[in-house]
Amino acid sequence: MCGIIGFTGTLDATNVLTKGLSQLEYRGYDSAGIAFFENESIRTIKTTGKVQCLKEKVEAANVTGATCGIGHTRWATHGGVSDINSHPHTFGNVTLIHNGIIENYKELQEELALQGKTPVSQTDTEIAAMVIDDCFTGDPIEAIKKADARLEGQYGFCVMFKGHPGKIFCIRNGSPLVATHAEAGSVIASDMVALLDYSKDYFVLPEHVIATLTKDEITLVDLEGNSVEPEMLHVDWDVDAAMKGGYEYFMLKEIHDQPDALMNTIRPRVKNGLPTFEADNVPDEVFTHCNRILITACGTAMHAGLVGKNLIERLAKVPVTVDVASEFRYNEPIMDENTLLITISQSGETADTLAAIRLAKEHGAKTLSIVNVKGSTIARESDYVLYTHAGPEIAVASTKAYTVQLSVFYLIAARFAFVTNKLNEEETKTFIANLENAIESLNEILEKEMDFDEVSASLDNATSLFYIGRGLDECLSREGSLKLKEISYIHSEAYAAGELKHGTISLITDDVPVIALATQHNVYSKMISNIREVKARGAKVILITNGEDESIDESICSFQVSIPKVDDMFAPFGTAVIVQYLAYFCAVRRGLNVDQPRNLAKSVTVE
Ligand code: M6R
Repeated sequence: MCGIIGFTGTLDATNVLTKGLSQLEYRGYDSAGIAFFENESIRTIKTTGKVQCLKEKVEAANVTGATCGIGHTRWATHGGVSDINSHPHTFGNVTLIHNGIIENYKELQEELALQGKTPVSQTDTEIAAMVIDDCFTGDPIEAIKKADARLEGQYGFCVMFKGHPGKIFCIRNGSPLVATHAEAGSVIASDMVALLDYSKDYFVLPEHVIATLTKDEITLVDLEGNSVEPEMLHVDWDVDAAMKGGYEYFMLKEIHDQPDALMNTIRPRVKNGLPTFEADNVPDEVFTHCNRILITACGTAMHAGLVGKNLIERLAKVPVTVDVASEFRYNEPIMDENTLLITISQSGETADTLAAIRLAKEHGAKTLSIVNVKGSTIARESDYVLYTHAGPEIAVASTKAYTVQLSVFYLIAARFAFVTNKLNEEETKTFIANLENAIESLNEILEKEMDFDEVSASLDNATSLFYIGRGLDECLSREGSLKLKEISYIHSEAYAAGELKHGTISLITDDVPVIALATQHNVYSKMISNIREVKARGAKVILITNGEDESIDESICSFQVSIPKVDDMFAPFGTAVIVQYLAYFCAVRRGLNVDQPRNLAKSVTVE
């Protein structure tokens, strides 16, 4: 959720930290702060608001010569949004930043109160600072070890101790921390994007291992005091990939990134026209030895799973169920060694999705994850990983991460069907060729970008609308609806088109527009009937078709928007781009911050 960064080296730490916080701001943006060594003492500057507000405060503070510090962007969990609740927090000898939740903070607070120690903020983080200070008798590593035994919950901490200038001590449980030592010094952050300026080689800090960062090196010790060798990873993202590249918003750039991101994800997995996961070390037995599949994920990633279910059941004829990860483990899912759990996550850190993997493993099920961030916790804890190659996704609203997740499901369904003889070689090759064609056709949609602005203008006064569809279009309706709610704040509901008349159609009036997805020919005429039903109740309809239908006139819809004609099964790619554009332009037209919608954070590492 929150973004954290620590730096010690030869550069101006305030610059490194504020720049890093700007890159991490998508993780949380209600307040921000930094703390740094100024000579021997620690100075803190923090504020509510965006990183830009912090930058202004730092500039006005005339800091010189700071080369070691820590920084934080907050997404409030415990305690409201206020200067005092912003990080870093200091208590006694300890100044720290934290990503996560301390679950036993109330008990700890009561224990500390017996010693007359009281916090000044309402945060669980300050309690963690108090606990570490309580354990401190001069040796930072010993203090962290002892505190680690007292703290429950998820945490990634970067800690500075009075009397230990130039050093940052870090530990994590659950929450992500990645680090690198480069020419400029040592850097640690909650996300790889903040390291890219310094190095593409990095490591994930193992859980319950204490890292000590100095300008010359990073050393790691476990809780028994043994030194630990980091497992180095390399990322092929470049700094430009994490910049806007001339676009007004990251979201718009990321919409445009999709054809390349999709090809980068698919091409290494197609040999002689057939899908293969050989290079991913996913053996065919994963499919041939499984008699049922459970898919779980959150938000947009779960919506990719809905499409995955449709494809796998249609092609491989294996039963699939899809559940949101926040419900998954409480629904007592039936799993055994013949079950395959497929999880999907852009960040690879979503707490509920991770919990589902852990539960599946307890039941002996195999776990396969579709993940964008290399070395993330979900990737490391799954039996098998299929990485998507979307590059960094910075906008909170997921776009390219979603379509690359879809593409992996097309590959899984095709490989599964091929190795279980449900599709022969020729059929499989045709399927893959259709997939590639559908991706290439996205460029035609991107070229028509401003058409979607015009269509969105018809929603300028809308406060509530419906997305409707059948089959794959119903899955895409859910994604379109989420995207719209998330960034334009228009209330929207996705509905199976045939279900409306069982109650919900009472909400349709001339003030409630309907976006109808009708790309599937087997249910097209039924969709048109459903559209007539809402039209008859006054709804203004935007219709999305697979290739233009010239027979459509104003009696059916106000706007017809078509994707370039593709085989129905591949329509989700084009439809996804169109619903992304509709949400994007609705938000822009309302003057909203498209990349950082209110109340949200990119990566949800708490349950
Ligand atoms: O990192 P993840 O893919 O696990 O994140 C899951 C959801 O939080 C995410 O897809 C969210 O729904 C998006 N912001 C929606 O655009």
